[in-house]
Amino acid sequence: MKPIWKANGTFSNNTREKGESIWVQEKETISNNNHERKKLTGDLNIEVAVIGGGLAGILTAYMLQQRGVSVIVLECFEIGSGITRNTTGKITSQHGLIYQRLLRYKGEERARAYAAANQRAVQKYEEVINQLHIECDYSKLSNYIFSLDNENRIQQEVQAAKRLGLPASLTRETKLPFQVKAAIRFENQAQFHPIKFLHGISKELTIYEHTKVMEIQKDGLILTEQGNIRAKFIVITTHYPFINFPGLYFIKLHQEREYLAALEWDKNNSILDGMYLDADPNGFTFRNHQNYLLLGSGSHRAGKQNPEDAYVKIMEAASKWYPGSKIKYAWSNQDCMTPDKVPYIGRYSASTPNIYVATGFNKWGMTGSMVAAEIIRDMICKIPNNTEKVFRPNRMMFSGTGFMLKDTAISTINLLSEHLRIPKDKLREIEKGNAGVVKYKGQKYGVYRDLEDNYFFVTTKCPHLGCSLAWNQNEMSWDCPCHGSRFDYRGNLINNPAMRDTFDACRRKLK
Ligand code: FES
Repeated sequence: MKPIWKANGTFSNNTREKGESIWVQEKETISNNNHERKKLTGDLNIEVAVIGGGLAGILTAYMLQQRGVSVIVLECFEIGSGITRNTTGKITSQHGLIYQRLLRYKGEERARAYAAANQRAVQKYEEVINQLHIECDYSKLSNYIFSLDNENRIQQEVQAAKRLGLPASLTRETKLPFQVKAAIRFENQAQFHPIKFLHGISKELTIYEHTKVMEIQKDGLILTEQGNIRAKFIVITTHYPFINFPGLYFIKLHQEREYLAALEWDKNNSILDGMYLDADPNGFTFRNHQNYLLLGSGSHRAGKQNPEDAYVKIMEAASKWYPGSKIKYAWSNQDCMTPDKVPYIGRYSASTPNIYVATGFNKWGMTGSMVAAEIIRDMICKIPNNTEKVFRPNRMMFSGTGFMLKDTAISTINLLSEHLRIPKDKLREIEKGNAGVVKYKGQKYGVYRDLEDNYFFVTTKCPHLGCSLAWNQNEMSWDCPCHGSRFDYRGNLINNPAMRDTFDACRRKLK
């Protein structure tokens, strides 16, 4: 049987980001959830196999199991080890200033369906947490999007959200340590500890960790290193969809990175009464978690315009707004973005009717995952769902997004051809603790020079579709500007869509 998809290499199972998030570093989380889940051993026959054990995959499996469907989750590392562990954990239907945009470009019916699905997702979290008695630091709070200079935009968004039946109101008073021009408040939103929730909801599920999918065949046979699974339906929830053809998700998605820190509160600072986000993409995000304030900023396209000072910017803001507070944890995250700001949820492609996908949550993965879980459950169980068409992956994009698709495609072509150019950098010119691209023994390599004068060589050709990797000094990684794959300084894969390490050529000491 000809495979739909086949792995073309290997990647190591031990790569971790430079900074781990508060969710995985808290002692309580570690001690509660430090149990090994089994690997797959042998063959299986199942109705649904979910590939990817993040929040979207686990919620989808949970929803299906609730309906009596036999389902398993396959995760190549541990559950929650991707994007879920790095999120801010805000559960809200307020997704930036999206509603005026949806009304303008998608029309009232679709905008209303998007709003209703996400607001229902907020309520569904409360329902599930209460039903399963999940202790995950859940609390109901208002969510705010504020502007420092444009009251008009905020007022328009309040009107759009109200028109769509959302719990929106305008305010100028917040608990932020600076005056805002205006803010839109959504009441009865929530925040939680995403990893505690994930482990709580996973308890009754069949999950195989450290089980890497090697091949998917058209008849639903999934080949892993430890056994084969025959599934009637396959759901791909691996953050970035890894099957390039069909689907072409690499043309219709890009990835963005952002940076976060958890500050230990000084008792003189006042605790926030809600979750906050600046409407300006260069602004900051805020939320509490116990005695910490989570502060984030610095969003940029992965592999492009890497800021060297993202954490410095957060530190400066922290000492200006919250004097006396200390940064305890700092980490980064990466999100898949769609041109029309609506996730892709539904059939992977027209030619693969039994494969489903959920991706492109545009930084709103908590509600997006819940919406995805309900839609995919309904599609598989043949339950009517009146929001499904809004999220269909093969939908037409509205006007104004064409240039974004074009930008992604052109970027791929330009960077593929960049391999033909000869790099100017020389090994000796690379500063200690930094990296560069050099031609060495006839080959083009990315070279990282550590503080002890060791040189680490990797190939700069991205194993996904061949674009040139760029060094990210802020996070000491090789990042791909085309679709956002990332690798550590040794070439170990950190973020997909690449499905293998970039070749760790050698490590040597110069004489
Ligand atoms: Fe697609 Fe690098 S070529 S992520």
